[in-house]
Amino acid sequence: MSDDVVAVPEAARRASNCSDADYQALYDRSLNDSEAFWLEQARRIEWIKAPTVAGNWSFDDRVDIKWFEDGQLNACWNCVDRHAITTPDRLALIFEPDEPDAETRQITYAQMRADIARFGNALLAMGVERGDRVTIYMPMVPEAIYAMLACARIGAVHSVVFGGFSPEALRGRIEDCDSRFVITADAGRRGGRDIPLKANVDAALDGGAPVSGVMTVRVTGADVAMTEGRDRWYHEAVAAVDDDCPCVPMNAEDPLFILYTSGSTGKPKGVLHTTGGYMVWTALTFAYAFDHKEDDIFFCTADVGWITGHSYVAYGPLACGATQLIFEGVPNYPDESRFWAITEKHKVSILYTAPTAIRALMREGPEPVKKHDRSSLRILGTVGEPINPEAWRWYRNTVGNSRVPVVDTWWQTETGGIMLTTLPGAHDMKPGWAGLPMFGVRPLLVDNDGQRIEGTAEGNLCISRSWPGQARTVYGDHARFRQTYFSTYEGLYFTGDGARRDENGYYRITGRVDDVINVSGHRMGTAEIESALVLHDQVAEAAVVGFPHEVKGQGIYCYVTTNAGVDMTADLEAELRQHVRKEIGPVATPDHIHLTPALPKTRSGKIMRRILRKIAEGDTKSLGDTSTLADPGVVASLIENRRPA
Ligand code: WT7
Repeated sequence: MSDDVVAVPEAARRASNCSDADYQALYDRSLNDSEAFWLEQARRIEWIKAPTVAGNWSFDDRVDIKWFEDGQLNACWNCVDRHAITTPDRLALIFEPDEPDAETRQITYAQMRADIARFGNALLAMGVERGDRVTIYMPMVPEAIYAMLACARIGAVHSVVFGGFSPEALRGRIEDCDSRFVITADAGRRGGRDIPLKANVDAALDGGAPVSGVMTVRVTGADVAMTEGRDRWYHEAVAAVDDDCPCVPMNAEDPLFILYTSGSTGKPKGVLHTTGGYMVWTALTFAYAFDHKEDDIFFCTADVGWITGHSYVAYGPLACGATQLIFEGVPNYPDESRFWAITEKHKVSILYTAPTAIRALMREGPEPVKKHDRSSLRILGTVGEPINPEAWRWYRNTVGNSRVPVVDTWWQTETGGIMLTTLPGAHDMKPGWAGLPMFGVRPLLVDNDGQRIEGTAEGNLCISRSWPGQARTVYGDHARFRQTYFSTYEGLYFTGDGARRDENGYYRITGRVDDVINVSGHRMGTAEIESALVLHDQVAEAAVVGFPHEVKGQGIYCYVTTNAGVDMTADLEAELRQHVRKEIGPVATPDHIHLTPALPKTRSGKIMRRILRKIAEGDTKSLGDTSTLADPGVVASLIENRRPA
């Protein structure tokens, strides 16, 4: 390997549960003796009825994916009750509040079991039945995790919506899956500010979505309106029930949750995960990617609103009986040393965060890091977007004192869990490269014609066979599931990412090859932002592209044409920025609105996005072939007026 390789640290190698030889043997078995391998791995989970078959899937025609299909289990039992029996006093959750002086909460498995059982009974009392969809719109407090697991306990299907989404976006997600129940909080706290979650729910439901029950957790004590007959307080509801709430036996292929994610076209898709395969996959990947040990304190900084917060906050760690820290706030409040202060205070041993946070903290220099003791750290992880080698090195050297392994884990909402990574005690690291496939994962690269490319190469990243944690469908729209993931390259799952492969089989993700952008680790469809923009009554047309952003990874650049007679002013730009925030949420706030009299189009009227991307990137020397442009003058004017000037 080239000299930019970082060797696996000796201490990590010695402590590891899995050597390189173990990995090789397991990986080979996972492909060559897949049935036996997966039935064995399924034992990580306690089944009510153990499965006798592992995979039964096809990526052709209908696209039909099943795992462990004759098994029965309950996800909440696996994350909570079984540990409450064997290790009742072990801490499940350590809650670190937004304000560092506010009280932390320490919750044992026994306590959590009782709390979640009461929550389950409160949901039943509200009328929630097995199979019902329940929307969860919560801040990062223990009750967010309780809510998810309480749904799983009674067989309801949760759909968590990130608290940074607007009432409009929330309403769309409630309506799409016919959710008649919402769990929320009076307000959330992030970085010293309140987020009016209950008020947002009220606004979302104002439009007439037929929701019959809203359960509100009191978190900040904010004043909120309660609608008679529909709304109830969590603390009152759980006081009225006991903590005896059976875990409902679910079939392995019964839905566990829906999570909305953006694609290159249309509105967000409700990605559906089922119970058995997802549980096996999150438990397995958590155990191996983080080399988990009983006394670890695991800190994943993701919000439950994203898949990372599902697989590596709510399900994976708890399925393994881990102790984890959850954090209500943000990395830079009250100051830039917060992550490191938390690490010291709670003796965090595994930290899992996103490149955007690492880059933002790197800008503050080493001081905020150095003033805290980080000797408890054993493993550092990153996820969500490509990490630039500079940020990788800062993470490892400054945060990790050049001592601990870094795992760069590549995966997606649709993959349910980690797909590519190095194993901390087994594999050398290569900054910027995610690494090797997880057990059962068969990645391959194809060119634009769908031809497989072997050896050292760059291409479109596909996966050729199913794995247990794979999404099964798009809620209510299986045709869209097939179309999105299985129609580009026949018989293959297409990830939407480009990747390179080196001589050792390591993969480096080069980024999305479709019209999806990744802003601070948040996935966004450019089409979604365009739709929001054209809803504004002064906008005629919009084209949105990403551009490289030092901290966010990618920023949002919007080209907008206005209706006849509208003045293109700075005020209008500001208004449009607000408009997008209102339609989608603060996560989608455009960095630049570029008002322009015209967009570059081909003679047949197609917007030339390639050129718009180049201009946004500031790479105007190499615009490529512009011969098909209907009006070349448009491009010159766009270059001249590029934002920021
Ligand atoms: C997209 C999936 C996986 C949980 C968070 C995001 C990008 C994710 C990495 C990584 C390079 C990465 C990909 C992927 N991505 N992890 N380690 N290196 N890129 O989940 O919202 O479904 O987004 O995030 O582009 O397709 P998501």
